[in-house]
Amino acid sequence: MMTPITYQTVEVLSNIALGNGIHRIRLSCHRRYAQAVPGQFVMVHSGEQIDPLLPRPFSIHQLVKKEGSVAGLELLYKVVGKGTQMLSLRQPGDILSMTGPLGKGFEIPANVLNVKIVAGGIGVAPMVFLAQTLTESKRNLSTVEVFIGGRTKADVLCLQAFSAIGTSVHVTTDDGSSGDQCLVTDPLDLAVAKNRPDIIFACGPMEMLACVAGIAEKYNVCCQVSIETMMACGMGACLGCAVADRKDTNRYLHACKDGPVFDTRDLRI
Ligand SMILES: Cc1cc2nc3c(=O)[nH]c(=O)nc-3n(C[C@H](O)[C@H](O)[C@H](O)COP(=O)(O)OP(=O)(O)OC[C@H]3O[C@@H](n4cnc5c(N)ncnc54)[C@H](O)[C@@H]3O)c2cc1C
Ligand code: FES
Repeated sequence: MMTPITYQTVEVLSNIALGNGIHRIRLSCHRRYAQAVPGQFVMVHSGEQIDPLLPRPFSIHQLVKKEGSVAGLELLYKVVGKGTQMLSLRQPGDILSMTGPLGKGFEIPANVLNVKIVAGGIGVAPMVFLAQTLTESKRNLSTVEVFIGGRTKADVLCLQAFSAIGTSVHVTTDDGSSGDQCLVTDPLDLAVAKNRPDIIFACGPMEMLACVAGIAEKYNVCCQVSIETMMACGMGACLGCAVADRKDTNRYLHACKDGPVFDTRDLRI
């Protein structure tokens, strides 16, 4: 039986425009978010309940901790349409409704030491939380290397956050305005060939994810990707987020329940 999703009212604590249509919003949240894992998402009604009617999915960018407990969470979002436009207008003190944490996040196998993280554009949103979780885990990681790609310098986000976490970052842009002028998957391929990682985690446009999955297959490396599909309900009811199952051609997976994070061996991308 389908469990109905309950929405809670949450307060906007801050909502900062970072330029180029990117915003970072901080929201109050229930203490159960302390159990959230990177790659999980929330559904947010960005304004009046009926306009737009449907809530919008956003990855958890960071948990905000105060005196050891979770005091809120941050979302990093790009304005692309009506819902995100309305969200960008919300002010501190405004009340929204939100549900989560939803979906299946990144699974970090116990024995991984050498990790590559790949992010394209706004796909960087869940990767800061992931890098933080990896470096805060007591495991003796040898390297966590981050590869960030954007069309232009303004699309390359979270560099400061990654350097505060202590990961090395490779930047690429399509126009050469920052880092190397190439696709983010070019330095990834070289780095994987040189020093084969235990796992690759990625989030970004589908074409980038397909290329990352190809590199993982070429070098026989495990790879998990967070995919973005249209989502109406976020709970497995509308079937709007179906993606093709690689192992069973007659079966569809649902990004909101089976994902949004998938092992690339399970997904046809
Ligand atoms: C699991 C998940 C996590 C996400 N995390 C983030 C995040 O952290 N930050 C962020 O900025 N965005 C994220 N997105 C995408 C975000 O949900 C959409 O950008 C948002 O729903 C657009 O709403 P809108 O009303 O502004 O645009 P709409 O008016 O609904 O659409 C505007 C344009 O964006 C396209 N679009 C809408 N939704 C999606 C989608 N889900 N994927 C791809 N294209 C879409 C539409 O086709 C249309 O071209 C995530 C999506 C999913 C499924
Ligand atoms: S969003 Fe409705 S089934 Fe996944």
